[in-house]
Amino acid sequence: MSIFVTGGAGFIGSQFIRDWVVQNPDELVINFDSLTYAGNLENLAPVDKLPNYRMVKGDICDENAVLAAIPEDCAAVVNFAAESHVDRSILSAKEFVQTNVLGTQTLLDISRHKKVGRFLHISTDEVGGSMEPNQWFTEDMPLNPSSPYAASKTAAEHLVRAASHTFGMDTIITRTSNNYGPYQFPEKLLPLAISNAMQGLPIPVYGDGLQERDWIHVADNTRALGIVLRRGRAGQTYHIGGKNPLRNMDVLKILLKTVGQPESLLTHVTDRLGHDRRYAVDCSKTYRELGWEPEIGFAEGLAATVAWYRDNQAWVQRTRSGEYKDYYARMYGNV
Ligand code: NAD
Ligand code: DAU
Repeated sequence: MSIFVTGGAGFIGSQFIRDWVVQNPDELVINFDSLTYAGNLENLAPVDKLPNYRMVKGDICDENAVLAAIPEDCAAVVNFAAESHVDRSILSAKEFVQTNVLGTQTLLDISRHKKVGRFLHISTDEVGGSMEPNQWFTEDMPLNPSSPYAASKTAAEHLVRAASHTFGMDTIITRTSNNYGPYQFPEKLLPLAISNAMQGLPIPVYGDGLQERDWIHVADNTRALGIVLRRGRAGQTYHIGGKNPLRNMDVLKILLKTVGQPESLLTHVTDRLGHDRRYAVDCSKTYRELGWEPEIGFAEGLAATVAWYRDNQAWVQRTRSGEYKDYYARMYGNV
């Protein structure tokens, strides 16, 4: 059996592959990734010599490249590939429409023609938009995205559901809250704040910093994704949250205590345009149907994450300098 993972050189996709190839040695994983700025093959270094792992460089919008790489006996496509950073989507939205919308449709078309067993699409709690205090986003609520990123992920979800409804494809959508953990590109809040805190640099806090997110350790998320892939019901959507709702200021204060730096590093800056105030996913359906719950508490997960960044400062340095791009050429020859 083979599975075709897109975007597996990114933060969450690489965690999924590192876990999957070790836990399922009889299953081939093809990592199909175009290696944008967010794709870092160093994230796969712990497993990239295993016989059941293969890397193919390609763009999910490129039909011929996907057709050439997808195996005949493909049990599942797991679609992580995306432009994922909200601030970048505010600066320029076109790349988000290209990859997140057109790329997803390209994969759906090919999956249908190739009779792929299951299409697992990785989405986000951001498609529900900002929740009111005491409001929880359930799987059946209408979608209400705010940012260009969230709008592109919403469009992709609609196309996935349309493929299921129209063609009877076996599709599942997962919507995860804010992930943190090792190997996260240092543009997102936590890896940026950890790197800055370790160097005693100011940490930018957008606006009043009272925005709320639900933080999940990436390993809890990818464990949930494995269960969804094996046991989820076709046509369904499942929410995956961390049971850790925290305001940004509180997250950063816990972080500074963990790193041993003063709160004076917190520096309020101009707010993100259209900044969503609160995300809150209701995961009771996932708990009930799949028996999954997050296991890693925030203090424990954050301490482990800080330790990882401390022990892997060379990774951070290579990621920030762009040197990580050399890894592909070293491993696979000419780009
Ligand atoms: P990431 O930005 O770290 O990685 C994205 C990966 O996709 C990179 O390896 C990149 O090279 C690849 N990619 C981008 N465009 C591509 C294209 N056209 N063709 C092939 N590969 C391409 O993202 P992440 O944080 O790992 O997120 C993975 C998925 O999970 C995304 O779909 C994102 O929307 C979703 N998600 C992320 C979070 C989070 O907190 N990070 C939470 C919920 C959902
Ligand atoms: O909710 C899931 C989403 O989480 C995913 O779908 C996205 O792919 C992922 O990027 C993430 O989006 P956010 O916008 O919530 O994450 P980010 O790390 O960019 O920001 C987290 C919060 O911190 C948000 O309220 C903005 C704020 N922030 C962010 C940065 C980068 C700051 O205050 N300062 C910063 O420097």
